[in-house]
Amino acid sequence: MTIAVYPGSFDPVTLGHVDVIKRASRVFEEVRVCVMKNPKKHYLFSEKERLAFLTESTKQYSNVMVDAYQGLLTEYVRAKNARVVIKGLRSSGDFEYEKQMDFFNKRLAPEVETLYMAADNAYSVLSSSAIRELMTFGGSLDGLVPEVVLDAAAKRMGGKA
Ligand code: PNS
Repeated sequence: MTIAVYPGSFDPVTLGHVDVIKRASRVFEEVRVCVMKNPKKHYLFSEKERLAFLTESTKQYSNVMVDAYQGLLTEYVRAKNARVVIKGLRSSGDFEYEKQMDFFNKRLAPEVETLYMAADNAYSVLSSSAIRELMTFGGSLDGLVPEVVLDAAAKRMGGKA
């Protein structure tokens, strides 16, 4: 069984993330989406909320599972007997950042391969940080995030999402 892990902060999950998950679910027998900690980030949504958003927005894909893990990505990948990590790429900037992470992940677990999926054009500039910024100023998130995130954002923004 080929298991792929799709890790990220997902603060919050966007339709760009969901698109990558959908496409990965067609290629791999099992996809484990894992909410992880990026030490460079301060999160707006709690781990529990981020997990719940992902669970709801991927429920139609029967071979997708959602998890959270606080440690190293390579530890999680090995614990799940996975061999593949999926990363979405929107730009060359993303690639430069991912290349650095790949270097360290490869040192820790040489048997794990990271595969990159180009973002769909519709989502090539979409980011969770832009979503958080729109939320801060009350901008519309329509067509950018799953329904469950729209609802949660509307609650936080006092009905303005
Ligand atoms: O969505 P993000 O914030 O770009 O995702 C980055 C994430 C969470 C996948 C990355 O920070 C990560 O793998 N964190 C776990 C710790 C780890 O294994 N780091 C890689 C070695 S430097």
